[in-house]
Amino acid sequence: MADPATEVTQLDPSYFQDPLSFFARMREEGPVTPVMMPGGGRTWLVTRYADVRAALADPRLYKDWANKLRGDGWTPADQAISYLNVHMLNLDPPDHTRLRKLVTKAFTARRVAGLRPRVEAITASLLDAMAGRVAAGEAEADLIAAFAFPLPVTVICELIGIPASDQDKFQAWSHAILSSVVTPEEWRRAAQAMYEYFTAMVAAKRRSPADDLLSALIAARDDDDSLDERELIAMLFLLLVAGHETTVNLIASGTLAMLTQPAELARLRADPSLLPGAVDELLRFVNPLNHATDRFTLEPVEIGGVTIPAREWVLCVTSSANHDPSRFGSPDVLDVGRDAGGHLAFGHGIHYCLGAPLARLEGEVAFGALLSRFPSLSLAVPESSLHWRPSSLIHGLETLPVRLTADPASAVGANGML
Ligand code: HEM
Repeated sequence: MADPATEVTQLDPSYFQDPLSFFARMREEGPVTPVMMPGGGRTWLVTRYADVRAALADPRLYKDWANKLRGDGWTPADQAISYLNVHMLNLDPPDHTRLRKLVTKAFTARRVAGLRPRVEAITASLLDAMAGRVAAGEAEADLIAAFAFPLPVTVICELIGIPASDQDKFQAWSHAILSSVVTPEEWRRAAQAMYEYFTAMVAAKRRSPADDLLSALIAARDDDDSLDERELIAMLFLLLVAGHETTVNLIASGTLAMLTQPAELARLRADPSLLPGAVDELLRFVNPLNHATDRFTLEPVEIGGVTIPAREWVLCVTSSANHDPSRFGSPDVLDVGRDAGGHLAFGHGIHYCLGAPLARLEGEVAFGALLSRFPSLSLAVPESSLHWRPSSLIHGLETLPVRLTADPASAVGANGML
């Protein structure tokens, strides 16, 4: 591990394939350490549970880089980027407080709970389509393309009010925006396309409101306050990217975790009442995000006995915190009966995930239905051949080939070998 004063560890892209081993070393050797990220840029990684939890709630770690760091060499963004970036996950109080209050008026617990029948129906129709492929003689499928991706995407698009015919466009835009390896030009093109699409959509919903979240966001009022055009577009961007890129990885990586640990899968099958707790254990275990989003210091800030200087970037590594043995016993063991309460997969503090109840609902419905519909689901390739996406933030598989039919002789075992 590098000495912060003299050298900075360069993370090479192999880090994406097994970030937890790297973080385990960091927790031991340098729990608060600067590194060079694979996409460039120096940032401090905070990796121990207690430090990560405290840092996520520390008001001296700021999010609003556009306003607070702009004088520090940041070039003013073009219109698309400046519009998409003013979402509440990039803001500090009081701006964040204001936006969170307004979105909470539209994104209510009632609206989310009311989605259960739709989530169940979308799940059933995707699983029907998979069963149809089996009936037609196709024994294998990519679980991400067939199920883990379309489920949350359809749910978030329906919730917001995006027509089904437009849903495909978002995958490419969203992936480009969150990739750590796209060129600035590719990034800008995706941002511009999203910005133009959202601008048109807001105008359309203003003309013809419907019973959807975007219309509710347009109508949301707090005294005389409401969301302006820019804030609406940024909120849409945040909700869509968050709704696209996270739950897919809970479903896919969670399924992988169970398929490679058949004893835990059998436990869950034998006692479905474990399911809600198992979703949280899977969140803790698989971590759809490697870390929370970027924060920065404006003054020296001490974390875990290390002083991070002013104007440095900081990443709170939630996946590492969730595997910290000082907080979770045998953290690298999946235990669907464990009380995983206190895990940080949804963050902590004022930016705690707004979509957590929706993500939990989708996870419960998805795992419950998938496991009962395909009792002999198994991995179709050795686990070691699976690839993780080259994104620092997102921890997700590129594909998850599964075998849908009963074929115990060739099923992939606990160690992932054929
Ligand atoms: C398994 C799925 C999900 C995971 C693991 C997850 C994780 C997170 C995390 C870690 C944060 C905090 C980031 C930070 O502090 O830097 C966050 C914030 C947020 N998430 Fe999620 N999320 C998930 C699903 C969703 C969904 C489905 C939605 C939308 C419906 C959503 C909307 C948001 C929003 C709007 C914020 C920003 C909250 C704020 O700034 O106050 N998330 N999420």
